[in-house]
Amino acid sequence: MTDPERTEPERTAPVDIRTRTAMTDGAAPQATTAPAHAEAVQDDAAVFELSGVSVYYGTYRAIRDVAMVLPQRRISAFIGPSGCGKTTLLRCFNRMNDLIPSARVEGRINYRGLDLYDEGVDPIEVRTRIGMVFQKPNPFPKSIRDNIAFGPRVLKLPGDIDEIVERSLRRAALWDEVKDRLKDSALGLSGGQQQRLCIARALAVDPEVILMDEPCSALDPIATGRIEDLMEEIKSEYTILIVTHNMQQAARVSDRCAFFTTEVNEKSDTRTGVLVEFDRTEQIFSNPADQRTEHYITGRFG
Ligand SMILES: Nc1ncnc2c1ncn2[C@@H]1O[C@H](COP(=O)(O)OP(=O)(O)OP(=O)(O)O)[C@@H](O)[C@H]1O
Ligand SMILES: [Mg+2]
Repeated sequence: MTDPERTEPERTAPVDIRTRTAMTDGAAPQATTAPAHAEAVQDDAAVFELSGVSVYYGTYRAIRDVAMVLPQRRISAFIGPSGCGKTTLLRCFNRMNDLIPSARVEGRINYRGLDLYDEGVDPIEVRTRIGMVFQKPNPFPKSIRDNIAFGPRVLKLPGDIDEIVERSLRRAALWDEVKDRLKDSALGLSGGQQQRLCIARALAVDPEVILMDEPCSALDPIATGRIEDLMEEIKSEYTILIVTHNMQQAARVSDRCAFFTTEVNEKSDTRTGVLVEFDRTEQIFSNPADQRTEHYITGRFG
């Protein structure tokens, strides 16, 4: 008999993202030195440590020299004007930039002390530990049930598929709305429901980190509120990184906030994204260290 209060499995220790070759090479994972300006977040265990991270598309450097330490089991928001490289940086955290032929990542990103870009690291494994929810909901053209069941099946996760489907949909606050139509196409759901389905799909493979790129930008305030509630509910178990243009949303949901901007080099006529500051959200919104942040959050940008 299962205790209904305890149907959730214990969260397992992090799966090693290295391939067998890398795991047997005897090298201990190296920890980077925390960047100086990230000291404010050192009281929480780090899940990601970035130093000197730049991302290029061909010869164009979209974002440069990012250094930050992201705490685990917190919501960190990325804000900043359009084109400053928020999506580009977010895609680095689960190696989605690998899928863009012209993209190249420089510098170091440690995930739990392990170099995420080490050649022994398996990017597929990375993406199962670090899931992503996109701006535009992208359900598969399959049934609601099969959307959720897909990942666990491919990964051959243990457990009953129907239980995983129900648990994931419940966690994404969608179960009550879809429990009687699990065999219907996911494409028949509303935009807000589709986005919650995509969150449920990300949760179904039991990741450690969820990356969200403007997940609410196409949603009404009610659907947005549901997704924000959901983030609040699951943040004790997951690390969430969210890109948002909605300042109120960043202030409402995040514990940490990173402000990025675009620096323009008049001489070379190039624009490059930079991290201006990363701190506790209340600090960013009440007493930011940099004037550029203050101008942006008070609407005096540009
Ligand atoms: N696949 C790509 N190929 C070439 N350049 C790209 C690519 N993706 C993004 N860029 C460029 O990199 C820069 C940063 O883009 P990015 O999408 O990361 O910005 P963003 O901060 O997410 O903007 P927004 O808020 O509008 O989503 C932009 O100048 C963009 O044109
Ligand atoms: Mg973007």
